[in-house]
Amino acid sequence: MTRISVNTHSHYQIHIFDELPSTNEEAKNGEYINDDVIVAHIQSTGKGRSNNTWESEEGNLFFSIKYASKTSFEQLSSLVFAVALAVHDALNELQLNSQIKWPNDLLVNEKKIAGILIESIEQDQTRYAVIGIGINTTHHPKDIEQHTTSLKREDIEIDNDALLKQLLNALNRRIAEWEAPNGFDSIREDYLKHAYKLNEKIRARTKHAELNGIYKTIDGNGNLVLIDEHGIEQVIASADIF
Ligand code: BTN
Repeated sequence: MTRISVNTHSHYQIHIFDELPSTNEEAKNGEYINDDVIVAHIQSTGKGRSNNTWESEEGNLFFSIKYASKTSFEQLSSLVFAVALAVHDALNELQLNSQIKWPNDLLVNEKKIAGILIESIEQDQTRYAVIGIGINTTHHPKDIEQHTTSLKREDIEIDNDALLKQLLNALNRRIAEWEAPNGFDSIREDYLKHAYKLNEKIRARTKHAELNGIYKTIDGNGNLVLIDEHGIEQVIASADIF
């Protein structure tokens, strides 16, 4: 775990490491404050959603932002949509057309190119969201349940420092939009423009059941709204969709 350098972005303080277990775990350390960004070239135990591991070979981009939230835990749950949209914006600047698979996987040509893991913690009476983002720039993990791709595979050449800067600019913009009064309304509207399989037939696998139906929208809390085979509206807070 060698700290290589500390760089300053106009909004963020960036701490760069050779190797870390996980940038999310590092960001939880009390030495970091609001708007600190932790970057690692390799993660030995990168974490994905649902207790999955995130393959973290050298060459890809792994970073976490420590964000001091002024909102309640409930409101914080919609931050993930602003973050997914920011990653979409940054990929769009590279002329890469991505779609967002609910809630927060970034897909290019139906293959996963980036993942987001947001964790909340309390520290010194402050509620923080640790926003972890992994982008497949040069490598893409073996397809397991989901097909994967990388920027390189999609013929996009950009070095990780330049990509990080674009992502941080996009994140700063979308988080500010989300923080504004009723900010989730405009985030939700833009999110839906890029939502994977919106108005199409999907299968949603929740912890307890599997539902089939049409993905109609996301509601004001970010839940997925599905019209099932019996025409009944199902509001889903957490699931994997296919
Ligand atoms: C997913 O399962 O799709 C979420 C993957 C999130 C991976 C990133 S890489 C940087 C940060 N540190 C981690 O350990 N995980 C997140």
